[in-house]
Amino acid sequence: METLSRFLVFMSLFAGFVSGFTLQNLPIASFEESYTQLFGDKNLFVHKDGKSVRLTLDERTGSGFVSNDLYLHGLFSASIKLPSDYSAGVVVAFYMSNGDMYEKNHDEIDFEFLGNIRGKEWRIQTNIYGNGSTHLGREERSNLWFDPTEDYHQYSILWSDSHIIFFVDNVPIREVKRTASMGGDFPSKPMSLYTTIWDGSKWATNGGKYGVNYKYAPYVTQLTDLVLHGCAVDPIEQFPKCDEGADEDIRAAQEISPSQRVKMGIFRRKHMTYSYCYDRNRYKVALPECVVNPAEAQRLRVHDPVTFGGIPRRHRNRKHRGKRSRVDGTESI
Ligand SMILES: *[C@@H]1O[C@H](CO)[C@@H](O)[C@H](O)[C@H]1NC(C)=O
Repeated sequence: METLSRFLVFMSLFAGFVSGFTLQNLPIASFEESYTQLFGDKNLFVHKDGKSVRLTLDERTGSGFVSNDLYLHGLFSASIKLPSDYSAGVVVAFYMSNGDMYEKNHDEIDFEFLGNIRGKEWRIQTNIYGNGSTHLGREERSNLWFDPTEDYHQYSILWSDSHIIFFVDNVPIREVKRTASMGGDFPSKPMSLYTTIWDGSKWATNGGKYGVNYKYAPYVTQLTDLVLHGCAVDPIEQFPKCDEGADEDIRAAQEISPSQRVKMGIFRRKHMTYSYCYDRNRYKVALPECVVNPAEAQRLRVHDPVTFGGIPRRHRNRKHRGKRSRVDGTESI
């Protein structure tokens, strides 16, 4: 018996090591205690359970909320179900910012969901700004391996003094490691957490080609299980005080396990459609933190040769059809 239980303990430790930190079971924040509505009056609705929120965009207004506290580092997460059907021009944003405190040198960490003419094909964009580096976008865009309008999925941001990692359902989809050469471009001042839905007609879908069509309104997004697990900063004393266990959880989550790294590679190979690190129209030389991965570069060249400086589109079908279908094959996360 003792041998068996020792064996089970060993196995669970081993499984923990192999699968890495999990974003499940983090403390859930109640809306009333942790957030304040920003705009949208009745278009923000809190369910009776106190932890689920409905955000609506209609012809009158979008809606949104902000955390009551500012944080310096932490794990931030929400389970989100996006508006279904036609959603061109609609933007749902889950992000951290201190733009209201630092007009000229703000920081930002963004998950942005960009609607599309066919409801299912939402795209996710991630981005960071540090100390007002808004002239240098660090955008990445991807599609998803599921229909995000069908069900709730967990979107999480890890922010430490050395890493920013974006997760979808516990799969890391992007890792930014701080480098000395990034200087102030790595977000490093306390930020609040925001969630908003708004009319992004000017840029969200195909650079603004398709605006929001209010014939399909209201656009409704549902959120639940909001997680603020980090180090809240006293606005007067400017001193961060971490929630119980947050320090260790942040450190654990920033170590991507080997199996999570494999999943991240598969995600990026299959689903990433844009990365600033490979956009030579925009940056003649990749920004210093970019780690150029030849497989990613090749895939993006095939996906979008105009942006990524590969073989022009008119030659592509003939030469690359075989390769393309293999890349878009049935490998799953
Ligand atoms: C951030 O920006 C401010 C104002 O532009 C500047 O004084 C400061 O040195 C910058 N900080 C870093 C870490 O780059």
